[in-house]
Amino acid sequence: ADAAGDIGYGKIILLGEHSVVYGRHAIAAPIPLHIRAEVKPQPEHTDLMIPRWGVEMRLSEPERSVSSLHASITLIAERLDLADRGMRIDVFPHIPRANGLGASAALAVAVIRAMARCFEVDISEREISNLAFDCEKIAHGTPSGIDNTLATFGRPILFRKENALARAEIRDLSTPAPIPVVIGLSGVATLTMQTVGSVRAAWEKNPARYESIFSQIDALALAGADALKKGDIAELGELMNIDHGLLNALQVSSREIEELVEIARQNGALGAKLTGGGGGGAMIAIAEPERTQPIASAMRSAGYNTFITEIR
Ligand code: MEV
Repeated sequence: ADAAGDIGYGKIILLGEHSVVYGRHAIAAPIPLHIRAEVKPQPEHTDLMIPRWGVEMRLSEPERSVSSLHASITLIAERLDLADRGMRIDVFPHIPRANGLGASAALAVAVIRAMARCFEVDISEREISNLAFDCEKIAHGTPSGIDNTLATFGRPILFRKENALARAEIRDLSTPAPIPVVIGLSGVATLTMQTVGSVRAAWEKNPARYESIFSQIDALALAGADALKKGDIAELGELMNIDHGLLNALQVSSREIEELVEIARQNGALGAKLTGGGGGGAMIAIAEPERTQPIASAMRSAGYNTFITEIR
């Protein structure tokens, strides 16, 4: 899996999804899953191959129904001034799709890196992140910029958006010891665009009510940055549990996510919450190292896919 190629990282959001879209702080960390891309020049046409996702597209031909994938890759080629070049793009995703783990941003970053390398286009890390941000806009409308930032830089951050992504607050976070994380997959695909849209509709009807929830989540994310710095996982866990309650207040959880959260807590998790857009997708739990296996096996017994990772 680690042959040559260019990589975009997957991510988890520890605290602050959704409120981050409204200018509040959020904490995100990379996961060891990534998406790799390879680009080779070929005459005339541009083809996109993602065998794992059953995607085989000729980009230089107009599509009947234009997908956001097609639109994103076309945008990348245009911005890198490569619209008139033929190429074969192979993408190898190791991040489950539509699970709130940042696969769309990771894919954009991997393809940007691979295309730039193949055609020797000079591009800075910031520019890669900004271009992936524009791809994220195609995929989900009003992204905060946290996914593309994480997919590019691949390290734990405290993030707050500004009107222009270039001015976003991005602070590196470090933790004295790795924090064990169990990721549980609900098995239900989710589109971030939908949950971000439903939160927006609720906020538009009653801005004051929702702004106050976003501000409470903001306070949790800031406290979480301190807890992370100290390696205080009990405190971090409590903040995550409260955040999950507030995400429930935003109505972005699901039956499967609630079951996974319950299983995690019953098996000794210090904190458990949905991660990413919600409405299905994934959840995360943090725990003492010796609890991660029992939590993951209880989730598996209930029929869910899981994996164990850590924040470092
Ligand atoms: C998605 O990973 C996180 C959301 O807050 C959307 C965004 O920040 O763009 C739900």
